[in-house]
Amino acid sequence: MKVIITKDYEELSEKAFEIMAGVLKKKPDAVLGLATGSTPVGLYKKMIEDCKNGGISYKAVKTANLDEYVGLTPDNDQSYRYFMRHNLFDHIDIDLENTNIENGVASDLQKECERYNALLRTLPRDVQVLGIGANGHIAFNEPGTPFDSETHVVDLTENTIKMNARFFENEKDVPRRALTMGPKNIMEAKKILILAVGANKADAVKGMLNGPVDPALPASILQRHPDCTLIADEAAAAYVK
Ligand code: GLP
Repeated sequence: MKVIITKDYEELSEKAFEIMAGVLKKKPDAVLGLATGSTPVGLYKKMIEDCKNGGISYKAVKTANLDEYVGLTPDNDQSYRYFMRHNLFDHIDIDLENTNIENGVASDLQKECERYNALLRTLPRDVQVLGIGANGHIAFNEPGTPFDSETHVVDLTENTIKMNARFFENEKDVPRRALTMGPKNIMEAKKILILAVGANKADAVKGMLNGPVDPALPASILQRHPDCTLIADEAAAAYVK
């Protein structure tokens, strides 16, 4: 895995944008695998700024997001569909029809996972953006998720519910389940860009880079990807040699 350590979040977002822009300049109709969470927001801001200033156009771009909470409608401001519109899609020239995310309010969640897996097979990702959970999760693949799983329904761990509670009014409002791409779907991307910010990610980053490749730390599977770059700020990279 290639590792880039940056002095701060601004530089991390800039480096991430350079890599993203490199993909899009080579392939204007690229398929982007996108992530939610606070970490990629700086990257998305750079993409918006650049597009508004006449830079890269997203007219031919397609996207597939990693995950969505179960039970939140797209207009719920805590849903990941809403997050993506608010933090990126509504501010660039992308066709919303070309953006994809799991439907967390599907009546049959199992069928919805099958639909999404079938869709992903038609949308090979040129680049996949990832954040990392403090427990080493990627997307909503919690510790113990088999590496060969595809999109599935997950019960979120107490740790993740607590970490994500900061976005909700009350911890009890955090959905207990989600739909998520599996490690297998994530690993299919041609290029992976994983971003890590802050001291609370330092242990997960260390385990991802130096620990055994083990489902106990889902992000460790990325050691096996042929083109994966970690961009971490100094705090998240505290234990990186
Ligand atoms: C959530 C998301 C993950 C994300 C993680 C870290 O659990 N499902 O995709 O990587 O949070 O979030 P943050 O970037 O806010 O630290």
